[in-house]
Amino acid sequence: MPSMNFHKRRQQLMNMVEPNSLIIIPSASPAIRSRDIEYRYRQNSDFYYLNGFPEPNSVMVLIPERSEGEFVLFCQERNQTKEQWDGERVGPDGAMKNYGVDDAYPIDEIDDILPTLLKNKEYIYYPMQRNDQFELKIKAWINNNMMQKKSIKPEIISLDHLLHDMRLFKTKAEISAMKRAAKIAVKAHENAMKAAQPNMYEYELEAEYIYEFKKSNASHSYNPIVGSGINACILHYVENNKLLKDGDLVLIDAGCELNYYASDITRTFPVNGRFSEAQLDIYNIVLEAQLSAISEVKKGNHFNDPHRVAVRIITQGLIDVGLLSGNINQLIDIEAYRRFFMHRTGHWIGMDVHDVGDYKVDDEWRTLENGMVTTIEPGIYIGSESDIPIKYRNIGIRIEDMVVVNNESPIVLSQSLVKNPTEIEVMMSNS
Ligand code: GLY
Ligand code: MN
Ligand code: MN
Repeated sequence: MPSMNFHKRRQQLMNMVEPNSLIIIPSASPAIRSRDIEYRYRQNSDFYYLNGFPEPNSVMVLIPERSEGEFVLFCQERNQTKEQWDGERVGPDGAMKNYGVDDAYPIDEIDDILPTLLKNKEYIYYPMQRNDQFELKIKAWINNNMMQKKSIKPEIISLDHLLHDMRLFKTKAEISAMKRAAKIAVKAHENAMKAAQPNMYEYELEAEYIYEFKKSNASHSYNPIVGSGINACILHYVENNKLLKDGDLVLIDAGCELNYYASDITRTFPVNGRFSEAQLDIYNIVLEAQLSAISEVKKGNHFNDPHRVAVRIITQGLIDVGLLSGNINQLIDIEAYRRFFMHRTGHWIGMDVHDVGDYKVDDEWRTLENGMVTTIEPGIYIGSESDIPIKYRNIGIRIEDMVVVNNESPIVLSQSLVKNPTEIEVMMSNS
């Protein structure tokens, strides 16, 4: 990805660590789908963020103290037979030529070389909570060095805080990448709205996304949710195998990943192309909550401000339609809305759909700053319990967009996708 300045990111990180440190990040491990078949490989986001290197069986080491900061990479060697089966490899020479690596070694030599690099370092920065084999290996190398009296004992500290704070603030190039991912998902949502008909299956709508994503060389950034009727109330519904019934709504939460950046967009629309009055009652509450929450995404506000606003509008809306009764402030205090709105209004998004970065600092909600990107995705989910008026049963609605913090006016990356009910009906009639 030439537009990402990996070198600058590495320098920035190396400038933040303690003196006499080493930073170590392994690549993602390949994951088995079934028996001997693997999922398509996807590099670890922290690793890729710093080097753009796409291959498994690699370990990056940053040595801040050497010259202007040295980037050492252990990676797979070139191998004609293996490449014949599994595809081309970059190899150590290619890594030095094309990935800004200062010293590259075959991964098979890591046991000889990395323990030497660890010697007499005071701090080792490592991504924590991976609890992986590689961390155990680092600990074994450290112990071995100490037993041979070749080293002091370094402290292993979490890299996450420093690196994830960097990732939280997106550059212009990153925001452009996310915009491209959003654009593809917007097109797929439009295709699905135009294709929807009663008596189709949910998976037939899912196919619109698979096609549009693949056609743009993108992939799903998470398993798409295509939930019609009561399925829309199951927050992580991914079976997508039920019939779309005339008169039901369908909620589709689907986004793609392009060049390692994600989109995450939800729209809810009527299977037959026309909202019923009862559906509109609820839809308009969610839409008002979403628009008001988006306008809270501005520099200086807190991460929780959009949620706070969405909660108030949804609680008031639920009172207005008779699904809650009582005083709005008391209902908010006791979180009565949670029966119908049980998730939060947003999350950071970036290389990961649920992206890294702290939501609170010293127990206080984080202040929004330019370059942060959050989703805004309020929803109302009404089951079929006997105390619910029949007309409101089995309605699940969420509206989700991706929003960049930018001074006074938020930038909605998925702005072009219709969400006003009339616009949706027009879009659906243009199949
Ligand atoms: N699609 C996952 C989410 O909205 O958080
Ligand atoms: Mn989301
Ligand atoms: Mn989503």
